[in-house]
Amino acid sequence: MAAAGSAVGIGNLVGFPVNAAKNGGGAFLFIYLLFVFGVCLPVLLAELTMGKHTRQTPMSAFGQQNGLTWRIAGWLATLTPFMIAVFYSVITVWILGYLHLTAVGNLNQLAKPEFFGQFIQSDSLLMYMLALIALIGLILFGGVQQGIERASRLLMPALFVILIGLCVFVLTLDNATAGLAFYLTPDFSKVNIEVINGALSQASFSLSLGMGILITYGSYLEDESKITSSGYMIAGTDTLVAFVAGLMTLPAIFAIYPETDPATLSGSSVGLVFSFFPKIFMEMVPLIGYTGASIAAFVFFSLTLIAAVTSLVSIFEVPLASLQDHIKITRKSATLITVTLILLGGWVASQSFGRSPWLTEFVSYGGATKSLFDLIVDVFYETILPLNGLLVCLYVSAKWQVLKSHLPDTEFTTRYSQLALRSFIPIILLVVFISTIYSKYFIR
Ligand code: TRP
Repeated sequence: MAAAGSAVGIGNLVGFPVNAAKNGGGAFLFIYLLFVFGVCLPVLLAELTMGKHTRQTPMSAFGQQNGLTWRIAGWLATLTPFMIAVFYSVITVWILGYLHLTAVGNLNQLAKPEFFGQFIQSDSLLMYMLALIALIGLILFGGVQQGIERASRLLMPALFVILIGLCVFVLTLDNATAGLAFYLTPDFSKVNIEVINGALSQASFSLSLGMGILITYGSYLEDESKITSSGYMIAGTDTLVAFVAGLMTLPAIFAIYPETDPATLSGSSVGLVFSFFPKIFMEMVPLIGYTGASIAAFVFFSLTLIAAVTSLVSIFEVPLASLQDHIKITRKSATLITVTLILLGGWVASQSFGRSPWLTEFVSYGGATKSLFDLIVDVFYETILPLNGLLVCLYVSAKWQVLKSHLPDTEFTTRYSQLALRSFIPIILLVVFISTIYSKYFIR
């Protein structure tokens, strides 16, 4: 349940549906499904197996193999989640801010085009950041079972109920079905190599691959629990939520702007959540009144916040568990250190939006000037995640003899995974890694 909570995030609710509509509708959904079950599920099972077999944090799970590559892999599997936690916290802080501002009746402010740019530079962010970190710290104090899992047990069903409620509401609006047509009708002519690459990175990011989360959670699995059923549960929940979110997001866009050409919509979740959606809610005022629109927006931002918080607690758990196991401190101290470090990192990264000119124009590469925040996203999200996935495949191949007992070859899924992990998946991930480096950092 905790791993499913990690998998369901902001990307599922907004980024996935809109990218599907932009990139061939049903054709994108088909390719995405193929990637989730054909490529990502084996890697997911491999990570859970690594954790379950070694009963270690990602750092020492890799470290059980001798050699520099594995030591680097262990460090990467610990540093990557830390840096992803930093950038994802910044976005979650904005959501908390929008939720608060909607609750106090400021939806009309949020819908102004210049608002987002001003908000992300404002002093109030620090307060929201402290509140978010305190909430996450509280959940983490409880431990994996009593904290994270209990929170997920409560929050995931809540998320699903809210999502279904919003779908029902949106589908009653006029023109809503036009959005469904864009979402579901397959158009294979839109599918090109970029779309395919986008579908794969969306699927692997969404499932938390390469972040050390699944290795960490795998280490808490009971001996008798079955890795394949956990894997299907995680991948199934994640995909279901993403799919159902499309039944809310696209009808909402088309009910308000029936003439929308999906190609013109922003592909980034951030642009959609913070700039486009507040406008949509304001356009609902003639239909349901200002209070009604504010309630709809409040419900939507609560949904997004829940999705983001369940992802964040999972990723905080990785550095936390490492501190606890390697420095041998109590869970309380490890939690305090982890949240403080991520708070500091998040605060520094949040200065990249104009508050600090130095961090805003931090580096230049690939023909563009990038902020510190962009740099973190490019390096850790775009580049290192596929590399970490590749290292997992190599690790599993190297330790095949001991790991295979966890993946019995009596089942189709595990037989397929055994084959895929040691043949075409590492090749796909290597190609993605090299082409990302080439296109991100070298082409201008
Ligand atoms: N599912 C998240 C999303 O779609 C991505 C994600 C998975 C994530 N695991 C995470 C984000 C852990 C932050 C932390 O947005």
